[in-house]
Amino acid sequence: MNYFSKPSKSFHKILRLVLLSVFILGCIVTAFFMYYKPSSPLLNHLLQSSDCTKNIPHVYSETNYKNMTIVLLWMWPFGQTYEMNVCSSAFNIEGCFITVDRKFYNKSDGVVIHHRDIAGDLSNLPKSQRPWFQKWIWMNWESPRHTARLPGLNNLFNLTLSYRRDSDIKMPYGFLVTANTVEDFVPPSKDKLVCWIVSNWSPNHVRAKYYNEFKNHINIQTFGRAFNKHIADKDYNPIVSSCKFYLAFENSVHEDYITEKLYNPLSLGTVPVVLGPTRENYEIFVPRDAFIHVDDFKTPKELLADYLLLLDKNEELYLGYFKWRRHFKVNIVKFWAELTCKACDYLRHKNEYKAFNNLNKWFWG
Ligand SMILES: *[C@@H]1O[C@H](CO)[C@@H](O)[C@H](O)[C@H]1NC(C)=O
Ligand SMILES: *[C@@H]1O[C@H](CO)[C@@H](O)[C@H](O)[C@H]1NC(C)=O
Ligand SMILES: *[C@@H]1O[C@H](CO)[C@@H](O)[C@H](O)[C@H]1NC(C)=O
Repeated sequence: MNYFSKPSKSFHKILRLVLLSVFILGCIVTAFFMYYKPSSPLLNHLLQSSDCTKNIPHVYSETNYKNMTIVLLWMWPFGQTYEMNVCSSAFNIEGCFITVDRKFYNKSDGVVIHHRDIAGDLSNLPKSQRPWFQKWIWMNWESPRHTARLPGLNNLFNLTLSYRRDSDIKMPYGFLVTANTVEDFVPPSKDKLVCWIVSNWSPNHVRAKYYNEFKNHINIQTFGRAFNKHIADKDYNPIVSSCKFYLAFENSVHEDYITEKLYNPLSLGTVPVVLGPTRENYEIFVPRDAFIHVDDFKTPKELLADYLLLLDKNEELYLGYFKWRRHFKVNIVKFWAELTCKACDYLRHKNEYKAFNNLNKWFWG
């Protein structure tokens, strides 16, 4: 605020001075023009800068959203609000208008509905007649195990938007992109060997069983609610990057369900030890030498512990896990803006009739 009030104050001062001069010399025509002329660009400038709405991108009028693709987000996902009209600036996706304003329902090309916010009796879904051109998009980023199966979802949606590769609009939690420059990557300095941050603990999780066995063979530094060691958001990155290895253990094992638990350590320069779908599945998304898979070690679990201890002593072997960083960098999806922009991009380019009638069978099997 202070930044802006200063220049405008001085503008006012100059303006007043000029107007005063104009008043005093008003009767002298030539002098009037002499003073008025130089002041007009100033006046112009002031008039323009008072037009605040001009620079706010998400004020759309009837005319300029006319030929934009309109995507209506029916409910904020988990109640989280976010800056939505960043498709052009952040993702180079043009021609999109994303809104939560339900008065756009009849004009919306797509309606995005987040599964976890749908009421069990479906009573909070749109009720008025669906325009013929409108597609309903089912959005979900949780695994089937952590997603309640709701009756009545078949024959309702047109498109799926999720982490699964076989979704109509697919978006994993992260992805690798080629780097612009080739540079050796130097991992940040480490003062911990194996770390794990976990909030959601259940003894039935595969990862809990694995951990209970694994911890007998190697020292694991644990954090998070599950261990009564809550960490603030700002401490997450420094902790993960100070560990040589991070246990990227998914809460449930499902094809393609590979979350930020993998992509965060990858991007921070920590080697992930993954537990989730098969190694083949991971290798579709990231290079094979970017991570260690628990399945690489059959029985006993000590093999993995021994291997990590070996890597701890052998710097060259350890650094081998960062070779891929010469050519790629990690992109972590920006929830939820990137997803609604992707949905819009899809609608812009594919306008054929489409129904997805067996959602239940597809997602929960
Ligand atoms: C909107 O549509 C008009 C004509 O239908 C076209 O000339 C114009 O380029 C379009 N604007 C955008 C931003 O696509
Ligand atoms: C949408 O159109 C229907 C008629 O087809 C109308 O009953 C409804 O009120 C309209 N909704 C909005 C939000 O304009
Ligand atoms: C979307 O799916 C519904 C339900 O199957 C169907 O009635 C509707 O015609 C579809 N709309 C489009 C635009 O594909």
